[in-house]
Amino acid sequence: MNIVILAAGQGKRMHSNLPKVLHPLAGKALVSHVIDTARRLDPQTLCLVHGHGGDILQKTISAPGLVWALQNPQHGTGHAVMQALPHLGNAPTTLVLYGDVPLIQADTLRRLVHAARDALAILTIELADASGYGRIVRNSVGDVLRIVEQKDASTEELAIREINTGIVAVPTKRLSEWLGRLSNDNAQGEYYLTDIVGMAVAAGVPIRTTQPQGEWEVLGVNSKVQLADLERVAQRLNAERLMEQGVRLADPARLDVRGELICGRDVFIDVNCVFEGQVVLDEAVEIASTCVIKNSRIGPGTRIAAFSHIEDAVVGPDAVIGPFARLRPGTELAAGVHVGNFVELKNSKFAANSKANHLAYVGDAVVGSRVNIGAGTITCNYDGANKFTTVIEDDAFIGSDTQLVAPVTVGRGATLGAGTTLTKDAPPDMLTISRAKQLSIPGWQRPKKTKK
Ligand code: UD1
Ligand code: CA
Repeated sequence: MNIVILAAGQGKRMHSNLPKVLHPLAGKALVSHVIDTARRLDPQTLCLVHGHGGDILQKTISAPGLVWALQNPQHGTGHAVMQALPHLGNAPTTLVLYGDVPLIQADTLRRLVHAARDALAILTIELADASGYGRIVRNSVGDVLRIVEQKDASTEELAIREINTGIVAVPTKRLSEWLGRLSNDNAQGEYYLTDIVGMAVAAGVPIRTTQPQGEWEVLGVNSKVQLADLERVAQRLNAERLMEQGVRLADPARLDVRGELICGRDVFIDVNCVFEGQVVLDEAVEIASTCVIKNSRIGPGTRIAAFSHIEDAVVGPDAVIGPFARLRPGTELAAGVHVGNFVELKNSKFAANSKANHLAYVGDAVVGSRVNIGAGTITCNYDGANKFTTVIEDDAFIGSDTQLVAPVTVGRGATLGAGTTLTKDAPPDMLTISRAKQLSIPGWQRPKKTKK
């Protein structure tokens, strides 16, 4: 089949400088949802009809093989498909999708395309409130006669509850002839794609209708309110998919996946967590409430405590992170690592069983196994111009409130006394301390307030 995605509409009601179809739903542009679904149908040609914001669209949507057709100005859905015509292959069926109807499912489209063999197939649905939509007009025996737009409909036609979702599958070889005969003699002065239905009937081409699994599949986005409503639908679908795979969610209504979340067995996710980009949670991972995790992999058995923020990191297995931990890009933590509250790690590797449990900044560091990093430890990795590496070898103990002025190495088994400012390498197995000697002054008098 050929697939044409209509996306030239302006989206005025979004009140935004961003083209409507680039607004994100579950972390992905509306039109990218449609493109990805279209791809799964393996079309011969995939053509996107764009109007406004073509430059930014082409920059944002990386889609090899996608054919771009410009529709400027926009004279209606029929006019939009006309712009795609020169690009279409000779596949027997041409499927028309909308760039702002993001949750349409591949199975529904397969059924529609199947129904369109030697016929014109329309995806329709009955709505309690059909206002705004084109109505499906049938004869007394139920055959479709035509589609009438809301603005052109009679009172009787307005009472029809079966509507045109806009998604149609048309025999390609008839398409150019029918589009060529469209007129804009209607209430909106537009070339309606829907008028080809009446032409098909007149030509004796059968009209078939199929329905989506649910109304949500065919809901479009015209406003921020509709975008937010569909976001909830998309998130509910994400949550259901995860639960069907065995993930335990404290509350499926309080999970946001803005990208792809892949989970092993027996994963638990508490409320109000946000997952962005590609995230993998291996077997038996537990994520406590209010964590944000982006483009990261969390190894089996690892527990992320509440309010942790993790980005471009690899963690675990059997690690304990948080609460209030921040793992920035380039963090790699091996088995059994503990990272506690108010600890920030950046571009740092920790080997197995090392700990930084309280109030520390470790950046550009290579940390060995069984290292203990005390509270208040800071790697001074940046001199204002360049960044340098701190190396902390196995079994080192870094006393509290220590500054490691990089580049510097702490040898295997070394101990740094609390309050040390380390500017030279600390030799292995020794105590290194830069603290001024403690002094007590006998007979010292506190200053007294002088009378004025
Ligand atoms: C259209 C259908 C209507 C259907 C409704 C479903 C026609 C004439 N009417 O209504 O029967 O019930 O969709 O939502 O087809 N677009 C372009 N170029 C244009 C006009 C529209 O690319 O010149 C695109 C829009 O970006 C959008 C889609 O086509 O993705 C539908 O446009 P919209 O204006 O929302 O639909 P209606 O014409 O109101
Ligand atoms: Ca319109």
